Amino acid sequence: MKFCYRNVAVGYNGAELRSGPLEQVMTDLNPQAKQMADESMVRNLAAQARAIWPQEIPLLRRYALPAEPRILDAGCGTGEGSSRLAESFPGAQVLGVDIVDSHLELARRRYASLAPRLTFEHQSIFELKAADRSFDLAVCRHVLHSIPHADRVIAELARVTRRGGYLHLIPEDYGMLHFQRAAIDPRDFWHEAPASFGESTGTDLFMGRHTFGILAAMKMEEIKVDYVVVDTLRVPRETFAAILEAWRDGYAESIGELTPISRESAVAYFNQMIANVHDPQGYAVWMVPVVSARVPTS
Ligand SMILES: C[S@@+](CC[C@H](N)C(=O)[O-])C[C@H]1O[C@@H](n2cnc3c(N)ncnc32)[C@H](O)[C@@H]1O
Repeated sequence: MKFCYRNVAVGYNGAELRSGPLEQVMTDLNPQAKQMADESMVRNLAAQARAIWPQEIPLLRRYALPAEPRILDAGCGTGEGSSRLAESFPGAQVLGVDIVDSHLELARRRYASLAPRLTFEHQSIFELKAADRSFDLAVCRHVLHSIPHADRVIAELARVTRRGGYLHLIPEDYGMLHFQRAAIDPRDFWHEAPASFGESTGTDLFMGRHTFGILAAMKMEEIKVDYVVVDTLRVPRETFAAILEAWRDGYAESIGELTPISRESAVAYFNQMIANVHDPQGYAVWMVPVVSARVPTS
């Protein structure tokens, strides 16, 4: 199987191919490599963490963790989640892993004061270096919708988590965003863009609703699906708008290439959604699934 993405041909066997003026390297296991490494993603991850963490931390505190938990942050990006985990669990040893080196370098620089309790390594979440049952908690935020074979990654996270330990996943679902209509209707955008984008990149942008079934088939215990509600009442409007601006800046071009929606049209949809969020009388919501489970004790 081959995914053709922009000017890069990507082989399903995991081989990295270089092509095109940008010399952008991607593997089939990170089909959004260009967007993930973009400057807009750094902004996006910061805004998402500001929006989501205040509602996420109470969910993390429910887990029965030891005083000095070993925590993995799989697909850690710039360390927004890893650093908050290290700060929130002062006895914890936190390892963040990712395959975008610029993110890892930024994370190491930004959070040097938390080292050596917090470390960052280049590792693929499809093939972690850790031995079986190494962690008390495996966290994977905003990754599973952006990669193919999410079930393989979840199985790998379960492998490295000890019996009775926890998986804490944020699998995004692009059917869970709602905006008011104005000149154009964002429902049309969200109906078309994620389905086509997912088809072109071999990913499932509706992973949020499918994660429960994956965990159930793996016979995980205490499976829970909670929601962080990013809306114009719970999150500052400028923070919500910053997420949409970053999506517009990072994704409009590839939406134009990979879906029936043109780049110009994608920008117009995003601009309208941003205006909706900024409007003091406007309401908009992004429901963010937080799916957790316990690795069976026996
Ligand atoms: C949207 S970002 C989320 C970053 C971080 N978890 C957070 O919450 O801020 C997704 C991250 O997953 C990483 N990623 C994608 N495929 C990966 C793989 N095969 N192994 C490790 N990281 C991967 C990307 O490089 C990117 O940094």
